[in-house]
Amino acid sequence: MGQAKHMTTALIVLAAGKGTRMNSDLPKVLHPLAGAPLLVHALQAGGALDPARTVVVTGHGGDLVEKAAQAFDDRILCVRQTEQLGTAHAVAQARPALDGFTGNAVVLYGDTPFITAETLEAMIAARQTHDIVVLGFEAADPGRYGRLVMDGDALQSIVEFKDADAPTRAITLCNSGVICADADTLFSLIDAVGNDNAAGEYYLTDIVGLAGARGLSAGVVTCDESETLGINSRAELFQAEQQFQRAARATAIEDGVFIPAPDTVIFAHDTYIGADALIEPYVVFAPGVTIESGATIRAFSHLEGCHVSRDAVVGPYARLRPGAELAEGAKVGNFVEIKNAVIDTGAKVNHLTYIGDASVGAGANIGAGTVTCNYDGYFKHHTTIGAGAFIGSSTMLVAPVTVGAGAMTGSGSVITRDVPAGDLALGRAAQVNKPGVAARLMDKLKALKAAAKKG
Ligand code: UD1
Ligand code: MG
Repeated sequence: MGQAKHMTTALIVLAAGKGTRMNSDLPKVLHPLAGAPLLVHALQAGGALDPARTVVVTGHGGDLVEKAAQAFDDRILCVRQTEQLGTAHAVAQARPALDGFTGNAVVLYGDTPFITAETLEAMIAARQTHDIVVLGFEAADPGRYGRLVMDGDALQSIVEFKDADAPTRAITLCNSGVICADADTLFSLIDAVGNDNAAGEYYLTDIVGLAGARGLSAGVVTCDESETLGINSRAELFQAEQQFQRAARATAIEDGVFIPAPDTVIFAHDTYIGADALIEPYVVFAPGVTIESGATIRAFSHLEGCHVSRDAVVGPYARLRPGAELAEGAKVGNFVEIKNAVIDTGAKVNHLTYIGDASVGAGANIGAGTVTCNYDGYFKHHTTIGAGAFIGSSTMLVAPVTVGAGAMTGSGSVITRDVPAGDLALGRAAQVNKPGVAARLMDKLKALKAAAKKG
């Protein structure tokens, strides 16, 4: 077996199952874990092997699953398994998509999100000594898992729970389902798999016994049981989410992030936070967030698809939506929503404001209650605010509109035309004072109220 062969890997991800126990219309592999479908977790894990081809075997909810796979990576090949006749039958569907491929094939399950790159790499390495490598684990409760029957270091066979006798059921070393073998060998063994078993299914696990009969060897790489957690029910999905969150919090703390109440902070699968950032309690990170070192995210803030630079401060009670980009030292305060907008260095948007489809220049100050009126019901329009501009409280910026550098808008203005740099724009009715009118009005009202009480 040449080295080069070991370098090339194809992934086969099984995702045709129904997931009956999820009690859901959504295909099981599309249920989200840390903000990404289970399938994406499996694809990301397998992606660590830098596969030359990735094939997803779909079935139940195939259209949706294929869409999700292609959204993750449009080079992914999807094949449809119209009838779920077993895991060997599922893998066999991938054969045409791997036509002309030579190298290792790695079979993963789309509902098993925690397999690590290290484990998969250990399996590829073990291919140096074995024709088939199976990922096994010591199960605390072996339940209905397939059992790995060993002879010393060699894996003799995998026996499904349904087909196992009492001594075999007593084995605690179980099959995770992840298998790695040379692709040609894999498909040639699958050709020989029958369905004469308790389930009447074509078991992928049968290839191990068949390999032995052909003088091929099989071996086992083991990992922690938590890595092989597969999702079959909402309860297991919840358990997986907790497992993910625990690990993400521990990693962030380990990496030097200051999180005084880690149990209240929710991470997404791809959250990145630099060292010495401070994350206050009850912060939610939806997907696509990067926080640089030294930034502060104050309590009760929700962030998604955004980037927060060094020394920027967000919240408390702020919402950063996709495309929010905060430069160094920018400040976004309470009850402020930012969407698709750049807040440049040191700019401040401190209170009760919506900034959408906009750019706010360095050092600009946005007064409380300002709104970029970005949507006319059909199209979105851009607002540009120059460096050092001062936007008075409660300004309505009717986009498209530009406020020049160093310009000001009067409080309560509705700005519909561009404001040149350095100008003051007043877009509100001029104030009129009526001498003594308030006092006379109050006297009149007081008298009316007194009369009403008497009557
Ligand atoms: C399988 C293994 C078992 C292992 C266990 C680990 C076999 C025969 N058994 O059993 O040894 O301990 O996983 O969780 O392989 N699938 C398809 N098409 C099919 C059948 C299954 O795509 O026709 C997919 C499922 O969607 C799922 C995966 O393959 O993602 C495993 O199938 P499942 O029915 O859960 O196998 P188990 O009985 O759990
Ligand atoms: Mg299963």
